[in-house]
Amino acid sequence: MVGPFPPGVGDDDAARDEYDRMRRRLLWKMPSGLYVVGSTDGATRRNGMTTNWVTQISFDPKWIGIGVERDAFTHGLVEASGVFSVCLIARDDRAIVRKFTKPVEVDLQAATLNGFPYVERVTGAPILAQSVGYLDCEVRERVAAGNHTFFVGEVVDCAFLADEDTDVLRMEDTRMNYGG
Ligand SMILES: Cc1cc2nc3c(=O)[nH]c(=O)nc-3n(C[C@H](O)[C@H](O)[C@H](O)COP(=O)(O)O)c2cc1C
Repeated sequence: MVGPFPPGVGDDDAARDEYDRMRRRLLWKMPSGLYVVGSTDGATRRNGMTTNWVTQISFDPKWIGIGVERDAFTHGLVEASGVFSVCLIARDDRAIVRKFTKPVEVDLQAATLNGFPYVERVTGAPILAQSVGYLDCEVRERVAAGNHTFFVGEVVDCAFLADEDTDVLRMEDTRMNYGG
């Protein structure tokens, strides 16, 4: 169980466990989007990772932050290249995010990640071709955040790849959770 525990929560395991579960449910209630983050080592490696800890953190400059597990394959790639992409997924394509929860199979010749075609724009981070839109980012700051790193990237290129009115995927459209 992860502390701290506020005053009023008993010292016993049962009370701490109850608080711990309530805190997790509350954290899961926080609304968020659901994206695929594309990464590369700048050479032959590529990955796509289902990610919900994505947020804009500045509008001048245009900075986006992503929270990435320190032991994720994606983490090493972003560290190595200093770039990442954020792909916005159509609600109707929600099945995609289940395919990007572990390191993917890459076909460089065919330019596919787990069979899904990708394109590369300014940074070289892969962008799923069926994304509604993408944000192509260069890392400007890295913040150690417990078992994650918060990578702050500047948007150096972005575009819609589908109709702008397409509904995009949110965590609440799935039965999945993360963190908490
Ligand atoms: C719904 C959902 C949301 C997720 N969000 C994040 C996230 O925000 N950050 C993160 O590091 N991993 C997140 N993950 C876990 C990653 O998708 C993945 O399982 C793990 O980090 C390994 O990624 P890798 O392919 O880079 O090794 C999420 C998983 C799911 C199912």
